[in-house]
Parts: sequence; structure tokens; C-alpha cells
Amino acid sequence: MISMMDASPKTTVAAVNGQALGGGAEVSLGCHYRVASAKAAFAFPEVSLGLLPGGQGTQRLPRVAPLMTAVQMILQGKVLPAAAAMKNGIIDAVAKGDVVDEAAAFALSKPPNPISKRPVAHADRFYAASGALDQALLMAHNQAPTMVAPASIIACLKAACSTMSFAEGLKVEASEFTKLVFSIQSAAMRHLFFAERAAQKVPGVNAKPMPIKKIGILGAGLMGGGIAMCFAQKGVPVILKDAKQEWLDAGMKKITGLWASKAKKGKMTEDKYKQLVALVTPTLNYEDFKDVDMVIEAVPEIMDLKKQVFLDMEKHMRPDAMICTNTSGLDINEIAAVLKDPSRVMGCHFFSPANVMQLLENIQTKHSSELTLSTGMAMGKLISKKTVMVGNCDGFVGNRMLAPYAGEAKMLWEEGATIEQKFGMAMGPMALGDLVGQSSLLPEVVDFICEKGRFGMKTPDASTKADGRGLFIHRGRTKEVDPEVLAKMDEVRKAKGVVPRAVSEEEIIERLFYSMINEGMKILEEGFVAKSSDVDIVYLYGYGFPPAKGGPMFFAENYVGFPKILERLKVYNAAAKERFTKNKHYLPVDYFEPSKLLEMVAEAQKKGVKAPPGRTLIDVVLKEHRGKSSSPGPFSKL
Ligand SMILES: NC(=O)c1ccc[n+]([C@@H]2O[C@H](COP(=O)([O-])OP(=O)(O)OC[C@H]3O[C@@H](n4cnc5c(N)ncnc54)[C@H](O)[C@@H]3O)[C@@H](O)[C@H]2O)c1
Repeated sequence: MISMMDASPKTTVAAVNGQALGGGAEVSLGCHYRVASAKAAFAFPEVSLGLLPGGQGTQRLPRVAPLMTAVQMILQGKVLPAAAAMKNGIIDAVAKGDVVDEAAAFALSKPPNPISKRPVAHADRFYAASGALDQALLMAHNQAPTMVAPASIIACLKAACSTMSFAEGLKVEASEFTKLVFSIQSAAMRHLFFAERAAQKVPGVNAKPMPIKKIGILGAGLMGGGIAMCFAQKGVPVILKDAKQEWLDAGMKKITGLWASKAKKGKMTEDKYKQLVALVTPTLNYEDFKDVDMVIEAVPEIMDLKKQVFLDMEKHMRPDAMICTNTSGLDINEIAAVLKDPSRVMGCHFFSPANVMQLLENIQTKHSSELTLSTGMAMGKLISKKTVMVGNCDGFVGNRMLAPYAGEAKMLWEEGATIEQKFGMAMGPMALGDLVGQSSLLPEVVDFICEKGRFGMKTPDASTKADGRGLFIHRGRTKEVDPEVLAKMDEVRKAKGVVPRAVSEEEIIERLFYSMINEGMKILEEGFVAKSSDVDIVYLYGYGFPPAKGGPMFFAENYVGFPKILERLKVYNAAAKERFTKNKHYLPVDYFEPSKLLEMVAEAQKKGVKAPPGRTLIDVVLKEHRGKSSSPGPFSKL
């Protein structure tokens, strides 16, 4: 169709009245001209699915727009609103009135001018020949080293800028597109695209949500402040309460400071800044929660304190208003039980920094009502979070799966592995510890750095002129392992009688990720999460799992295969047991003990069972298992 419009002896004009994304933009480029309404926008989001515009887009766009615009749109997925599209030659007119009428009038006033017959601008051919496209590819590679689509996109753009004919360029596009569309990487990214939408549908939750017109936040610290910003930025008035004036002032200062710095950099107008600040009302009084629709509690992680503030809130809030806790791991059933009506409670686990991180893990307790849960999901949508509903188990989904991963990272280091390795996570486990706080898995080393006041990325160190010091010495965006930490680790090894050995990259990946996947399987088996793709979304948006690998459960099913994971877990399980029996310094670990579900999916995969399109094998097998199981999680019967 695109070629037919291009070859038409009569002038063809696309009237574009909305978002022309991907295929839509390509169809419009099949026409000789484009007239768009002011609200129209153009983009090629294929790269986010590990693909390229395979409907002639890579050959047509550089024939109307500057090469660097084509790079930004196709390689980086940049969206161009109508005005920018006009400036860049993608459209020929912005309609002032009815877009179809104006496009028709435009067609009558112009001769045919097929894009396929237009040359790429001489200057752009020159840029391409002088390495501009290679430079763009290098930048894309530095940002996402494992992605393959960028190289294919650049190959197509190079073809467009070469001496090849338009038809020859299309052949390059078709061959690169075919390569990508059958790649596992694109399958992973398409899986995530659908997983994100599927996460919004929570089994058994169909009630119409309550409107959230005003929100209360209890605790103006790191998390409370970030959460308050999320709501204000969506125009929702926030009552921010803390217990002492100085803490409240510190919280407000941080919030307003972050917005002020945006305004200073020209990323926000002064008016917008004022509007946002006016939306947050600081208070020390519970009475100010009297008319809020929901409170999100973010006081320190102390069970008795949480119970007390829940009782205090109950006294002052409307009985139908929701109370949510941002606890990272306390038992929410226990907190909710202090209230007369625990059905109004659920967990809302935000990630730090809450105003930046996209994930929201919503936690359903055994008493949460359907209305509470549906309102919690709607709340996530309201503040544009990627929201996943999970059950109330230790560490919920994300942190529970992180425990074996972090535990093995430290164990591997002790055995001799280098502290840095590459899999594609946004941040490795050790660096993550320096950001969010080191766990106590290696007490000797953690005590050593903490005694010296080196708590990680946020504790500057004058002696090394570092912005932060923990396991690493952090300077700006770079970091190096602290030599004092390495020396301390040598001491620890000697004391435990551990002789360091070379550890392969393969062993590191297997021990970190297979133990994490196994834990994910246990969570699914116990019914604390509805489906395997929900786990993938938690890891993509909360823990920086590389999108090209589709999340831990997709990675297990499609990249590695369950039989191999099962076999390797058994090997590591035996080794961990031997370590525990032979060396008194080690405790037993259970995370290598294979889950029942893993054994079942490994068996199914061995027999060649395939999941129908749009489903995962884990979910197919899980459905069978859940029907028969008496697991404790809320999704175990659904
Ligand atoms: N920090 C993280 O990375 C992170 C991530 C997810 C969840 N969480 C959870 O969020 C909660 C808060 O953590 P944080 O890191 O923001 O802590 P924080 O110490 O930065 O903030 C806690 C705030 O609560 C205030 N506070 C203490 N007692 C209070 C009371 N009785 N009434 C009102 N305010 C009171 C404190 O003054 C402080 O401003 C914890 O449950 C934590 O586990 C933290």
C-alpha cells in the first residue's frame, strides 16, 4: 500500500490528526505530502521493542528530515510534535482548521512528489560518510550494550545515505527487520510490552476504584518526600505530616529544593514551581488528615511505631479512607490488625528515589477489600507508576528475590570473584548496596566500612576527595573498588580459611540469577504473585533488569531453559551444603533448593510442551498446580 501511494500518478496527501506512531508514521511517509493538525505527533517507537520501522520508514524518513533527526527518532524513539515535525521537513503544513479539508486543498495545489524519488541531502550523505552514524551507534551501545536493534537501524540509515537506490535500501531494511523480528531480544521486549499491560489486570479485582482527590503522607523523610512529589506533580493536593517541626522543615526543604533546581535549569516554569509548592501542605497535626481519601505511611521501619501511627490515623481519618504502608518488609497483616477495619489497608511499596523510580509494588493483605485493591491500582496509574499487585510474604516479590542474589554475590566475592561483573543489570549487587545500604551478609566487611563512617554513595570522604565511599570510592559517575575494602576481604578470607580462586563469569551468572529465579518460582508456587510476567515487570522497573533479557522469568524460560537451571541449582545446592558441613564459619542456605514449580516446568520443557502464543510455560504449568495446591498466597486459587 505504501509503495502504491508513493507511485500514484495523482498527488497523495496524508491528513494526520493524532499520534502517527510507527506504522502510522510510515503510512504517512508513503504519501507525497503530509498535512497535520497542531495536536499531531510523529514517532518510531519500534526500537523499544527491539525492532526497526520495517515499512520503509528507515529509507523514507532521511529523505525528508535531517539525518540527525532521523537518528533521534528511529534510534532513540524521540517523539516530534507537529510544530517540530514541520520544522524538520516531515510535514508540509500544520492545519489551522479541519485537517482533512486542508489536506484535500493541499493535494489540489501540488504536483505528485514521491519520497522514493527524492535524494538524501548532500550534507547528510557527507555526515554519514564521515562517521556520524558510527558515533551515534557507539553512544547507543554505551547506553545499552546488549541491544542489537541499534546496529540494524544504523545499517539501514547507512544504506539510505549511500549510493544505493531506494529499492536497494529497502532490501537492506527488509533483511535487518527479519533478523530482528525473529531475535530472542525482540521477543523479550515484546513480552515486556504486553506484561506491563497485563500487570494492570489483577485477578479477582474488578471493583470501581474510589476517586483520590486529596492524599495524606505520613513521614516527610526520604520516601515520604518523594511520594508527596509524585502526587503533587499530578495535581493532587498533599497533606504532608511529620512528628517534629525540624523533620518536617527538612522534608519540605528537600522537596522544594528539587523542584527549584528544575526551575533553575529551565525544565519547569516559575509558575509551575509555585503551583507545585502550593499543592503540598506541611503539618504536624493528624486533624489535617480528616478529609483525605488515602494516607501513605512512610515512618521508620519499626513495627510498634507503625502500629501506633495507624491507630492515631484511624482516630482522625474518614472511616472509608484508605491507609497504606510503604514498609519494605514488615508483616502488613500484623500492622492492619490494629485497626477496627483492616480491609482499608494495603501495602504500597515505592522504590527510592520514589519520585524517579517507576515501580510500585502494591501488597494485598489477607483482609484488603476489593475496593481497597482496585483503588490502590488506580492510584498507581494516577501517578504513572508501573504497578504490580503482589501478596504479603517476606520481602514481597522484589526484595525476596534479591536476597539470594545479594547473598551469593557476597559469597562469590569471598571465594575470589572480582567485585565487578557484567550481565546488563543497571547496577551490580555491590554497587546497589552502596546506594541503598549494605545488607549484613558479609558482617566483617560491612562493619569495617560502617565503623569508619563510610555508608556508601551518599557519604562523602575528604581523605580520598570522594563524593561517596562504601565498598567503592565514588566520584561523580565513576567508581573504583576501595583498596582498603579489598585488604579487609583478604583478612576475612584468611580468618575463615578460604583460599581465593578464579571464578568464571558463567558461575557468577548462574549462582546470582538461577538462585534469584528459583526464589521467583517459589513465590509463584506459593501464590504470592499472580503470573510470571508480573515478576518480570517488578525486576525491569524496580531493579534495572536488562530489558533485552525480558525479566528473570522470561530469561529462564527462553534464554537458558528450565532443565539447565534445575541441573545447575542441584550442583550449587550440593556445594553449599558441603561448604556448610566442612567450614564452621558458614550457615546453611535454602535458596538453591529447587522449587517444585521449577521441577514441573523443567519436566514440561524436556517433554517439548510449548506455551500457546501470549502465555508463558510457567503460567501454563502453574495453572495446573494452583488448582490442586493449598498454598498460602492470595493468588493460589485463582
Ligand atoms: N529508604 C528506602 O530506600 C526505602 C525504600 C522502600 C521503602 N522504604 C520504607 O519507607 C519507610 C520510610 O523510610 P525512609 O527511608 O523514608 O525513612 P526516613 O528516616 O528518611 O523518614 C522517616 C520519616 O518519618 C518521620 N517520623 C518518625 N516518626 C514519626 C511519627 N510518629 N509520625 C510522623 N512522622 C514520623 C521522621 O521524622 C522522618 O522524616 C520505611 O518503612 C522504609 O522501610 C524505604
